[in-house]
Amino acid sequence: MSASRRARRRLGENTRSIHLPRPESPGQSTFGLPVWRAASWNFQSSAEYADVLGGEGPGHAPGRIDNPTTSSFAAAVASLEGAAAPEDVAGQAFASGMAAVQAVFLTFLRAGSHVLAPTPVYGGTFSLLTNVLSRFGVTTDFVDYADLARVQSSVRAGTKIIYAETMTDPTMAVADLRGLYRIARAAGALLVVDSTLATPVVCRPLEHGADLVLHSATRYLGGHDDSTGGVVVGRPDLIQRLREVRIDTGCSLSPDDAFLLRRGMETLPLRVRRMCSTAMVFAAAVAKHPAVRRVDYPGLSDHPGNLLARHLFDSGPEGTRYGACVTVTPTGGYQAGAALADGLRLAGIGSAVGGTHTKAAHVAATARLTGKDAGIDAGAVRFSVGLEDAEDLIADVTRALDSLRTMKTP
Ligand SMILES: Cc1ncc(COP(=O)(O)O)c(C=O)c1O
Repeated sequence: MSASRRARRRLGENTRSIHLPRPESPGQSTFGLPVWRAASWNFQSSAEYADVLGGEGPGHAPGRIDNPTTSSFAAAVASLEGAAAPEDVAGQAFASGMAAVQAVFLTFLRAGSHVLAPTPVYGGTFSLLTNVLSRFGVTTDFVDYADLARVQSSVRAGTKIIYAETMTDPTMAVADLRGLYRIARAAGALLVVDSTLATPVVCRPLEHGADLVLHSATRYLGGHDDSTGGVVVGRPDLIQRLREVRIDTGCSLSPDDAFLLRRGMETLPLRVRRMCSTAMVFAAAVAKHPAVRRVDYPGLSDHPGNLLARHLFDSGPEGTRYGACVTVTPTGGYQAGAALADGLRLAGIGSAVGGTHTKAAHVAATARLTGKDAGIDAGAVRFSVGLEDAEDLIADVTRALDSLRTMKTP
């Protein structure tokens, strides 16, 4: 028996269970991405560890600071968003979409800063700006971005961020990204765009002048309603500053979620293109129903954002991609909206957009930004169109709308 084996037998069972045999690094690439759950890394020396921590040597720093699976997800989004961007594009991944939004605000705002945001804006962002950041001396003006003159006249000396959403839920208003870019540049402010509803398959705001683009990856990027995350991509110098705030605030994405989100991205174009096609057919069919007062979908020629969408949004053999969220407002107000959502059998009830399952949300009942605040009809129902067959979804909504016509209105 060799000396080394004799020495090994002297180790106690606890020590041996900790220092179990490990596989060699395979030295071969894989098609599926490995999940690096590692929250800490083994260094050869303290000097090497210090170099990695200081960003002066190759390697990974512990846990929330760095993880190869998480970085790989951020790089994937940067690659799709930056396909034809004028500058290099880098990315940072966050624990949720809201973690990404708050990191952007914490990085580029300070007490006394002013923000412009659209109305309506995603409810979580509205709440963050009005309930949280307002306590730290940040002020926000919510402006209808359809009126660029209003946006321009709302800029102040302290305006640091013009915050936009490529498409705004539930009106599906389309942001005039180039117009906003001109205003932001002249003001010395950053143009930050939440592109969750568009995805890079529909529109890539960096190509239209945005400094930073962010996503709730929980939605279309992951796409299967099974993981939570956020991501910001854009100019490397800005992303480096964001990274420091992410590390200091600890709102980093977990490797398991990063794995699921990164995997979802491989089918993103397939899913989104198909959802957009279905949404177009769905919106056109629903608009013809006699119980429907209004349909908000940028693909419809009477939508105020239709022309803008044709300029900004990508197209393929299937036509222009206008996104996959459709807001349907039946006549009859709140009660009709509630009955429409509750009368669906195939579409589920839920406000989470972007998954494979079609979902409907009665906006006035479920959104944090109420219809009254943003001029949204109390009957509006926002559909996130999934991957089911269009004819089945149309049959489902038609049946629910038919039954509204027999409903007594108060
Ligand atoms: C447009 C938009 N931005 C931000 C968020 C927040 O994302 P998360 O739920 O991942 O925090 C959402 C969530 O639905 C969203 O729709």
